[in-house]
Amino acid sequence: MSQQPRITLGGRALVFEPGETLLDVATRNGVEIPTLCHDPRLKPVGACRTCLVEIEGWQRLAPACATQAQAGMVVASENERIDRHRKSLLALYMTDHPQEEEPAKSGTPNQLLAMVTEFEAASDWGRLSQKRAGRPGDRNPYIHYDADSCILCARCTRYCDEIEGVSAIALAGRGSETTISTADELSLLDTTCEICGGCIDVCPTGAMAEKMPLVQEARPDLQLETVRTTCNYCGVGCQIDLNVDRAGEDGHGRIVKVTSPEPGTTTNDGNLCVKGRFAYEFVHHGDRLTTPLVRGKDGELHDASWEDALRIAADGLMGVRERHGADGLGFVSSSRCTGEENYLVQKVARAVFGTNNVHQCAAT
Ligand code: SF4
Ligand code: SF4
Ligand code: FES
Repeated sequence: MSQQPRITLGGRALVFEPGETLLDVATRNGVEIPTLCHDPRLKPVGACRTCLVEIEGWQRLAPACATQAQAGMVVASENERIDRHRKSLLALYMTDHPQEEEPAKSGTPNQLLAMVTEFEAASDWGRLSQKRAGRPGDRNPYIHYDADSCILCARCTRYCDEIEGVSAIALAGRGSETTISTADELSLLDTTCEICGGCIDVCPTGAMAEKMPLVQEARPDLQLETVRTTCNYCGVGCQIDLNVDRAGEDGHGRIVKVTSPEPGTTTNDGNLCVKGRFAYEFVHHGDRLTTPLVRGKDGELHDASWEDALRIAADGLMGVRERHGADGLGFVSSSRCTGEENYLVQKVARAVFGTNNVHQCAAT
């Protein structure tokens, strides 16, 4: 019987499956290797070089995210040489990167700055002028690109291509002027962009950021509370995290933005659509009903208690059944309800009123 192939990582013999990268094997075995351009959903490109490891017999350090495990490899993920290279790399990134977190600007934590602190890299190697062009005239109301904070890891462009499948953004230009752009520098609204916001989610530095919190000068992420819920726009049931400022709306709490849970943890695997991510302002709209309304004899709608409203609705439905029979009634539910709520609607129709006239908009 052939033995499963192994590598030695940090002195431990670890088995691997054919096709796994060194980072896959390390992650599966709880060995932490820092990354910036890696996303398990995307093909590896080895762009940022923060995951460098040393392989016995190899002259150069190799990116763990883009190097396939081979039987017999002896790998080190930590030593003086790796630390020296990583520190130099981070210090080079910092020469044209904002020196400090600007929460009001980015809104999201900057993983590069966190790494500079964690590995005690220098951030004073002198400054180079940043030459990447942004898209300040892009009139799309949702996505802001801050070229100053971009490290060209291409997570956003790869996500747009490989997961969203639209390739609305791409690396453009050459050398130090390379930037993230659209065809002819058009506004995202005039491209194939679906405003899914996935490019914001995957960006490790906050260079891709949400415009709405920026415009509203919302509190930084660290001061927001995350509330997990189910998106109610369609029947898919994506899990979403409401990022709530508890002090907003006079202490009632305000949703500042919507993000997706980590990839691999829920059915939507880190993805959201334009409605789930950006169309949340209705929650705080002044026209929202906050109490049941019942039409009075004067023809106008009046506030009512839930008890009264439900009793009047039940009386009305029973009246139709008495006058026209159970099939005189029809119940239409919504894909914006949960599965449990839809179940209850059909239960009320069948068990209480005795009709099979039940429909739900996601059924067709
Ligand atoms: S919002 Fe979605 S479709 Fe548009 S550029 Fe970003 S990833 Fe691509
Ligand atoms: S915008 Fe963000 S995700 Fe895109 S290349 Fe720049 S740093 Fe990477
Ligand atoms: S995470 Fe491996 S090169 Fe970027």
